[in-house]
Amino acid sequence: MELKAAIEQRRSVRGYLHKPVSKEILTRILAIAVRAPSTKNAQPWHFFVVAEEPLEQLKRANVDRFRSPEGPPEEMGHILIEPEKGTVYRERQVDIGKRLFNVMGIGREDKAKRMEWVERGFRYFDAPAAIIIVGDKSRPIEGTYLDAGLVIQNICLAAVDFGLATCIENQGITYSDVLREILEIPDDKRLLAAIAIGYPDWDFPANQVISPREDVENVITWCGL
Ligand SMILES: Cc1cc2nc3c(=O)[nH]c(=O)nc-3n(C[C@H](O)[C@H](O)[C@H](O)COP(=O)(O)O)c2cc1C
Repeated sequence: MELKAAIEQRRSVRGYLHKPVSKEILTRILAIAVRAPSTKNAQPWHFFVVAEEPLEQLKRANVDRFRSPEGPPEEMGHILIEPEKGTVYRERQVDIGKRLFNVMGIGREDKAKRMEWVERGFRYFDAPAAIIIVGDKSRPIEGTYLDAGLVIQNICLAAVDFGLATCIENQGITYSDVLREILEIPDDKRLLAAIAIGYPDWDFPANQVISPREDVENVITWCGL
């Protein structure tokens, strides 16, 4: 597949077929993805690839925790920061939310459906597999996030080439203590992101949403051209 086509075809998929992804394919995707560049070739990533019973356990534990009064652990506070009202970032957040809720038929006041939607996220959108990306706490956080972002995008693009789809998810690592316990993630690792991965269910309404982009000329300052 042409790279340009993969970039254009990739989108966040939030509904999957009940079809497992083989260990072989997941290995091939990750083997390609780790060709990503990183600061001084640090390669500051490690992947917990979760499927079958451990994934079911994780989904249940995330949802239980979401329903309990206990909030997320302090270490994940940074991923819960919402964009400020009145900013373009807030506008874009609201816009993508509206688009998803519209196609899913979730009304503004429909608390039950909204809850069910949030719980889907905690269930990795019912994907047959999830990849949890972690880094070393000993490494600077900014560099780690930048490097991890490159490998994460590679995973998402390589997945497209295998006929798979993904959704990068902060939500999937919100309850880091739950993940640490079930997956036995050591304390010296920082949870960076989750990726739901599987074969896309194109009949799932949310998968029809194509998120908009700012016109490219608006995000370029030409210097010398
Ligand atoms: C770091 C990161 C975290 C994200 N977390 C979530 C999430 O928790 N839940 C979700 O539904 N989508 C999540 N997304 C997906 C974004 O909403 C999505 O990438 C954005 O709306 C653009 O849409 P597209 O991926 O379809 O192009 C996340 C994306 C990134 C890069």
